[in-house]
Amino acid sequence: MRVYFDYNATTPLAPEVIEAVTRATRDTFGNPSSVHRFGQEAKAILDEARSAVAALINGDPSEVIFTSGGTESDNLAIRGAAEALEPTARRQLLASAIEHEAVLNTVKALARRGWTVAHIPVDQAGIVAPAAAQDAITGTAALVSVMHANNEIGTIQPVAEIAAAAHARGALMHTDAVQSVGKIPVDVRALGVDLLSLSAHKLNGPKGVGALWVKRGTRMQPILTGGKHERSRRAGTENVPGIAGFGVAARLASAKLAAEGARVAELRDRLENGILARVPGTAVNGARERRVPNTSNISFDRVEAESLLIALDLEGVAVSTGSACSSGTLEPSHVLRAMGFSAHRTQNSLRFSLGLFSTEAEVDFVVDVLPRLVAKLRGLTERRSPQPLARG
Ligand SMILES: Cc1ncc(COP(=O)(O)O)c(C=O)c1O
Repeated sequence: MRVYFDYNATTPLAPEVIEAVTRATRDTFGNPSSVHRFGQEAKAILDEARSAVAALINGDPSEVIFTSGGTESDNLAIRGAAEALEPTARRQLLASAIEHEAVLNTVKALARRGWTVAHIPVDQAGIVAPAAAQDAITGTAALVSVMHANNEIGTIQPVAEIAAAAHARGALMHTDAVQSVGKIPVDVRALGVDLLSLSAHKLNGPKGVGALWVKRGTRMQPILTGGKHERSRRAGTENVPGIAGFGVAARLASAKLAAEGARVAELRDRLENGILARVPGTAVNGARERRVPNTSNISFDRVEAESLLIALDLEGVAVSTGSACSSGTLEPSHVLRAMGFSAHRTQNSLRFSLGLFSTEAEVDFVVDVLPRLVAKLRGLTERRSPQPLARG
């Protein structure tokens, strides 16, 4: 059996998406900026996808900018807003301590160019307290960036409350919703944000395509300069086949959101409860109630997470030790560290993330193989470094 439980890294494409990408690649090669019919057919694909993406987040199609993915969307939001506000006295950027590297390394780069950067802490459950955000946001804040759902532990952040605090100080509010869009309802108006990032490959769409939603009237400079594509906010000929697939993925996500959310939550809970019951020395990381329905991050006491990941891979099971970008580096998770966990716990945690094609049989298979693998690894560790005998 081969089991893919790494949907937060990327997702398999829905068959309808493959069909749309193939059709657009084969039949609609025109440049959407061209005036002739070939171009207009390509433009019609962009228009349809823009409406689908806007509908998924309750935005207006005119507010959707297509990008090359979540990383570019985060860069455009932060760098674009920072550049627009550079002439003003607003020189502070804020980000939560558990943001994706696409946000953290972008504010870090801007710090080297003279911006003041502050990180908003999270509690032990992996959630930003609105009061902590309020304390950190000063009157010179330009932009606050707090993700909607965390990629490693799945916790959902109080974005609406933080947006209100940011606006009260005159700052813009950005949220990286790459891990929430398609999993839970995302409504840009209810969240009260100015900028929201999303990525197609996290919702059964193709890689290399994403979007930034920009509230009408928000001041933002382009970071890619060139032609007048995307209303002069992102230059470069659009990735028409990728965007066609993104549009179909967005429509599918809208149609299935409630039913899929409930189905996947049930599977995730079956997996989590099965592991907690059958493997001693395990604990869930992050708030269990306030999470996206597909994610479970579990600590395995006295086990090196990388070793367990490899042992699972040999059994055909794909999981992750955290964010895909830092896997293979043995860097302890910055998310678990920010939650105040010990060095050991930041290195013994695995992320299981489920999705569209996950089944009960896969869950039961993983729950069956794990106790043996964990016992074996603990046995190996203990043989290498025997515990001192208790004196009594
Ligand atoms: C929260 C979050 N933001 C941004 C990204 C980057 O998205 P992309 O891979 O489309 O560049 C990811 C992907 O891992 C993510 O999980």
